[in-house]
Amino acid sequence: MFTKSQHAAWHHVLGLCKLGEGETAVVLGAQGVDTRYRDTALQVARERGATAAYIEVENANRLPATALAALRTADFVVDLSHSHDPEIRKLAPYGTRTLVVLEPPEILERMLPQASDKDRVLHAQACIRQSGRMRVTTAAGTDFEVALGELGGNCQYGFSDEPGHWDQWPGAFVTTYGNEGSANGTVVIAEGDIVFPQKEYVRNAITLRIEGGYIRAIEGGVDAMLLKATLNSYADPEVFAVSHLGWGLSRNSRWDALGFYDKKEIEGQDGRGHYGNFLFSTGPNLSGGGTRRAPLHLDIPLRDATVWLDDRQMVKAGEVLAAEQRA
Ligand SMILES: [Fe+2]
Repeated sequence: MFTKSQHAAWHHVLGLCKLGEGETAVVLGAQGVDTRYRDTALQVARERGATAAYIEVENANRLPATALAALRTADFVVDLSHSHDPEIRKLAPYGTRTLVVLEPPEILERMLPQASDKDRVLHAQACIRQSGRMRVTTAAGTDFEVALGELGGNCQYGFSDEPGHWDQWPGAFVTTYGNEGSANGTVVIAEGDIVFPQKEYVRNAITLRIEGGYIRAIEGGVDAMLLKATLNSYADPEVFAVSHLGWGLSRNSRWDALGFYDKKEIEGQDGRGHYGNFLFSTGPNLSGGGTRRAPLHLDIPLRDATVWLDDRQMVKAGEVLAAEQRA
């Protein structure tokens, strides 16, 4: 049963997505995946004048041809399955707008996107595109540099309003990929920083020594040992590569949110898109236009980082500096 304010929040976000009269919407679910938003998504899509259908697949990461055909002909998709089938990120030629919705209702409402979030994120993205270098430092000891320009990046602002755009409600952040082999320096994952997909706060600092685009050493206590064990378990050197890099611009995100939920109840957009974070990650660079595949992708948001693009500070000790990017 959904409350009046949750119903209003869905209308607000599908409104930002410009879902309207005469459009076709598909709500995508999968077996064994929480589809608590199915009825609300269908109802609100219909109230906005769209025709809406629910499709449930067996495995969201291997979408069958029938489901893909439906997604390609739809104007708008609400993805409750969080499909990682590469085809769902290739709907741009079909014009399909895709919005993933996973987080608990109170997080959807607390981090409710606003139209201006898109402007703030696009400003950050434009700054990245004009820059040749990114440097990140933290008081905990991070000092890391990467060259930019060879690959693209992604941005999320919490709604999907343009043909072919993929997004997630909630979450606003910008990412880019470093030039192949250019990442060098030290990343310190400090106490209280987060490692995804484990959804764990680090209890003792982990130091990553990075050279030529890859993590070459992992130093620290028990958390370092566990991270090393996880990465080694894949027996694939590409899991040690540096992946997307960027900073968070989300409205009303809470760093401590993970502690209030069972892991399967929360996706972690609070941490990943946390306002003023630095989001470090490992593994593939396919979605930046690169060729690196990797069987594991870690998202590691750091708090209180300072981020430079060339000689311009974008974030200073966790504070977003550019007026155009401030919430
Ligand atoms: Fe990621």
